[in-house]
Amino acid sequence: MGGLAGKGMLAVFGAGALALAATGWMAAGTPEAQAKSKYEVDGKKSGYLYSTPETQAMQDDDFMNQGMLWVERGQKLWSQVEGAAGKSCQSCHGDVEKMRGAYTTYPKYDPKTKKLINIEQRINRCRTEQMKAKAWKWESDELLSMTTLIGYVSRDLPMNVKIDGPAKPFFEKGKAFYYQRRGQLDMACKHCHIDNPGKFIRADLLSEGRAGGAFPLYRLKWQKLGSMHRRFRGCNRQVRSEPYKAGSDEYVNVELYIKWRSNGLPVEVPAVRR
Ligand code: HEC
Ligand code: HEC
Repeated sequence: MGGLAGKGMLAVFGAGALALAATGWMAAGTPEAQAKSKYEVDGKKSGYLYSTPETQAMQDDDFMNQGMLWVERGQKLWSQVEGAAGKSCQSCHGDVEKMRGAYTTYPKYDPKTKKLINIEQRINRCRTEQMKAKAWKWESDELLSMTTLIGYVSRDLPMNVKIDGPAKPFFEKGKAFYYQRRGQLDMACKHCHIDNPGKFIRADLLSEGRAGGAFPLYRLKWQKLGSMHRRFRGCNRQVRSEPYKAGSDEYVNVELYIKWRSNGLPVEVPAVRR
């Protein structure tokens, strides 16, 4: 079966309206393309390379990058004392720059819960256990800001998640999730992001979904920053399947799969996407 000609795709585009052009915004070989080459590693391309030059320019320039507002908020939160233990993140961790590298290794196996823990959950664990403060809600400004800050201090480092040892069964589950057909359109993640990157689906140019180093990111459509799990929910809805909860085991497992597909690509938090 060639390309997107699945049962689901016909429903997505309407029969006869498979508006798939095999050209992207990329102009390989131009000086611009070479300058962007840090976003292509071992043949893996970041979603950055599937963005329009205007969106790329917004990401590249910290003054234009709306996501930087969340980095600033995160910096304020870092030294804010909260909770019964009377501590801030800084009280224990010192300068946030000491967190450089941490972002690239999550999700990872957590011996305590015997499942994976991602970066948002790691932050919240420090809130509840170390600070005796309330966990931040998923997609709250606070959790997004802190996650963005932790990502930001790892900017340009290569993603480096581990999938062996005790993480392996969770990686396998995440991979199975990625390949599993679902929803009224009966499509898997892989039908769009592995089989069809570089093609248009409506007005969107499909990327390889190698967004491991990109989230939280500023989405023009959202007019704000959002987590990777928010994006998953949107992708589930596109095929008319019931989304899972942000922070669910299913999403953390598939997050590890995606981050593994992004290993070697640089952290680009806060990225900007359409
Ligand atoms: C009372 C001390 C304490 C406070 C306060 C604290 N942490 Fe932690 N944090 C730790 C300890 C200890 C570890 C590592 C050991 C463990 O718990 O697994 C850790 C680990 C982490 C990690 C994982 C680092 C890595 O390399 O994997 C992150 C991220 C983190 N903390 C973020 C935060 C943030 C954000 C805050 C504030 C909201 C915070 N911590 C507050 C003690 C603290
Ligand atoms: C019907 C096609 C389709 C399916 C199926 C689909 N997505 Fe997407 N996805 C998109 C489009 C369109 C975008 C935005 C453009 C892009 O980056 O590909 C996107 C973006 C993403 C991104 C962000 C990429 C970036 O760099 O910004 C991630 C991560 C992602 N999808 C994960 C998933 C996961 C996980 C699944 C399965 C649960 C899934 N997608 C299923 C169409 C799809």
